[in-house]
Parts: sequence; structure tokens; C-alpha cells
Amino acid sequence: MSATPPGPIGDPLVGNGRQYADDPFSFMRACADSYGDVIRFDLGPRETYLLTNPADIERVLVADAERYRKPQFGDGAMDRLLGDGLLMSEGETWQRQRRLANPSFHSRRIGALAGTMVDHTESQLADWSDGEVVDIQLEVARLTVKIIVSAMFGADITDEEVKTVQEKLEPLGARFEPDPRRFLIPDWAPTRENREFAAAVDTLESVIDGIVERRRGTERDPAVDPAGPEGVAVRGPAGDGEGGGGSGSDDGSGDLPMDLLSVLLRARDRGEQTDENLRDELVTMLLAGHDTTALALTYTFYLLSNHPEARKRVASEAQAATGDGAPTAADVREMEFTERVLNESMRLYPPVYTLFREPKLDVKLGGYRIPEGSALMCSQWVVHRSSRWYDDPDSFDPSRWEPERRSQRPRFAFFPFGGGPRHCIGKSFSLLEAKLILAKVCSQYELEYEGPDLSLRGSLTMHPDHPVPMRIRER
Ligand code: HEM
Repeated sequence: MSATPPGPIGDPLVGNGRQYADDPFSFMRACADSYGDVIRFDLGPRETYLLTNPADIERVLVADAERYRKPQFGDGAMDRLLGDGLLMSEGETWQRQRRLANPSFHSRRIGALAGTMVDHTESQLADWSDGEVVDIQLEVARLTVKIIVSAMFGADITDEEVKTVQEKLEPLGARFEPDPRRFLIPDWAPTRENREFAAAVDTLESVIDGIVERRRGTERDPAVDPAGPEGVAVRGPAGDGEGGGGSGSDDGSGDLPMDLLSVLLRARDRGEQTDENLRDELVTMLLAGHDTTALALTYTFYLLSNHPEARKRVASEAQAATGDGAPTAADVREMEFTERVLNESMRLYPPVYTLFREPKLDVKLGGYRIPEGSALMCSQWVVHRSSRWYDDPDSFDPSRWEPERRSQRPRFAFFPFGGGPRHCIGKSFSLLEAKLILAKVCSQYELEYEGPDLSLRGSLTMHPDHPVPMRIRER
């Protein structure tokens, strides 16, 4: 077995941290172009390995998933923000949280949420006027926050609270941008960044607490409440029921509302989880459940603005899907070209641009020994733009997603939602939501991008580094 994978030379102390922080996207691609399937570099104190071969990525995420965990970066920020929520928890805690959450993401329940998604979209579009310029990223994030709170928390969020969440995303995101000096500064040090981060987490938690408070007492569980079934008839505004969530049988809740907040409140009342677990899960869902889909839509609108032919085809599918009424989950299943556009958008601009894993023991990948405790990166950004799997990889070409072309590529040449046991629980939810929003917007409007050349910023997700102004034109 060969000793050490190749990789770029780093600086003393910060290793390759400065190069990575300056432009993680160019750095990772340059490494992949120069060094092959497994690349070693140093981001601060920890050895890091970038995997660029889909077969190795599949082994890490799927076949050998039990040999890896999510890394603890020795920095309390992630823990402070997401705690033991589904995204970052491990072991039995993760299994319990995933089992609890699964029924809320059951395909029948997701399909039944189409009406909620369309209602929110319509009410937002009612504010748009012909010729106006909007920052589409803020605009779709406002919409996806409302949808996730309604659909998964069975509650409404006020405009003021949405604004607060959006304002706080900036300091939260800043805390997770690559910075080679971060490991030198303890989390408790009263730097401006640390203080703003802590204040943002507090604010986000108080928004969550407000939502929970509004829901508290609106339902009771006969399993723990002698008041009996009449106490449980209240349904959240998400329109639960209609076969959604496997009728709740997974947690023995009969015909109870299956939005995630209701499910978690019942689990807490049964003593299966604490208030802290509940809050961690809700913060996780609020962030993971809106920012990613908003980014996928932002990049899709940007690409459509630059590709009039594709825009025309999406518009005609959107008009067919919307017809005279509100589109449903069945209608958007017909939007095949739109789905290809969405895939192409997430290929070029994957909202989650890299996954991290840590081997629990020494492992062998690509012929190299990777030591326990190192950081492994499986980067969507790198693989999705590799000329090994895609001709002319930087160009926008939805026809790559025609079934016969798609079937020629390895499975993990495209993995915007991850894979294996930790795959995205919200995948079906977000694809339905994105297609419904595209159907509503593209059937009524054309969006023309009026900003600078797109430049990108890496944090937990991949963001445009500037506003994304779009002029709205009624069709
Ligand atoms: C375009 C939209 C989305 C993208 C690109 C995306 C991407 C991802 C990826 C790549 C992972 C795997 C992370 C890893 O393996 O380390 C993930 C996990 C997760 N996602 Fe998503 N996501 C999206 C939408 C959503 C939505 C709408 C929700 C919630 C409603 C959600 C909730 C989660 C959660 C809770 C996890 C952790 C699952 C677990 O570890 O069991 N995501 N997502």
C-alpha cells in the first residue's frame, strides 16, 4: 500500500488553510486536476483527504458507512448551533431522531403538502409587480422559511420573525466560512465574530421557542393524557391527514397530526426526548430545510435567465402543470424537462458543496491508508464539475439528464443530497417544493438577472457572494 496520497505543499502552521480559505472552489478543483483520486492536504491541525472518485465516495457514504462518523472539528460552534439535531447527531441518538422524524417525511404526507406550498407561493407572488427588481435569493428564502415552518412545524411564522431569521443567517454563515486562523482562536474568546454568532444563535432559538409556545397546548396525546381522544382533534395548518405520514402509525399516534413539531412534542411528553433535543431538531430543520432549497432555486433562476431556450421549455411545462388551478404533486411529476434543469442546476451549483466524514478506524481508500480521526471530504462541487464524468463540465446542458446519458455515469457522479443512511431526509420535500415554485413563477413571469458575474462563497452551504437582483417581467 502506497504511503501518503499526493497533495499540494502547505505553509507552516496553517498548512493549506490559507489557499482553501481564499477560494475553496478553485483550490479543490485544482487539486483534483493535479493529483488524482485521493488528495491529502492540511486544513489547520487536521490531516484532510479529498476524495474525487465516485466509487470511493460511494464506499464511504453507503457500503462502509458504519466505519465513518461526522467529524467533530474541535470547535463548539456547530454543537452550539445544531447540537444533537438530525444533521450532526451520531449513534443511538441519531437513530432515534431519524426514526422519530421519518413519518413526517413519508411520501404520502409530502404529496399532501403541495397545497400548503402553492398557497404560500401564491401569496408571495401577489406582492410582485411587473418591472420590479427583487433580490431573488432573499425572496425565495423568505418563501422557503414560511413553507418549512408551516409544513414541518404546523405553525405560521410572522413576517417579523422571517426577517429576523434572514438577518441572523449572515453572522451564522460567517462563522462557518473557511478561515485558517480559526483553530487558533477559542470559541469562548470575545471576538466580534464569536459574539455575533452567539447572539444570532440566541435569537434563532427564541424564534423557535416562540413557535413552540404558540403550538403548546393545541394538542394532547391519549397515550399520555387521560383526557382522551377528544383532546387531539386539533390539526396544524399544514393540512395533515389525507393519508399523510403513514397515518401516524409509526409512533403509535393513530390519527394525530404528523408535522414534525407535533411528533416531537409527543415524543417529549412520552419522556423520549428532552426540551433541548426538541430545540436542536427544530433549529436543524429550520436551517437545513429552507436555505438549501432557496439556493437551488436561486441558481436555477440565474441559469434560466441566461438560457432563453431552456426558459421557454420550462415555462411551457409550467403552464401545462398549473392549467387553470393550483399544481399538484401529480402535475409536477409531468415536468420532466424542469426536473432536468433542476438537476443541472444542482450539478453546477450544489447547495451543499462538500460532505465531511471522519474514519472511526484506519481505512483504505484508493490504495492509500487513511488514518483514524482524519477529515475526509467528499465534494459535490469537485465531482459534479469533473470532465471525467461530464463533457464540457462547466456548461449548462439539461440533456445530460436524459435517462440513457444519465445511466452511463457512476451513481455518485451526482450526489446533491448525499447518500447512504445519512442521505437527506428532506429530498422529496425539497424537490416537490422547488418544482411547485418553479411552476408558479415560470408560468406567470420571466426573470432577468441584472447582477454581476456570479461569484461564490463557501460556508455550510454554497452562496452567491453578492445580491442576486432579478427584474420581474409578467408574461
Ligand atoms: C435542495 C435542497 C437540499 C439539499 C441540496 C440538501 C442536501 C443535503 C445533504 C447533502 C445531506 C447529507 C449531509 C451529510 O451526509 O453529511 C443532507 C442531510 C439532511 N438534510 Fe438536506 N438538503 C436539501 C433539503 C432539505 C430539506 C428541505 C430538509 C428538511 C425539510 C433537509 C433536512 C436535512 C436533514 C435533517 C439532514 C440530515 C439527515 C441525517 O443525517 O439523518 N434537507 N441534506
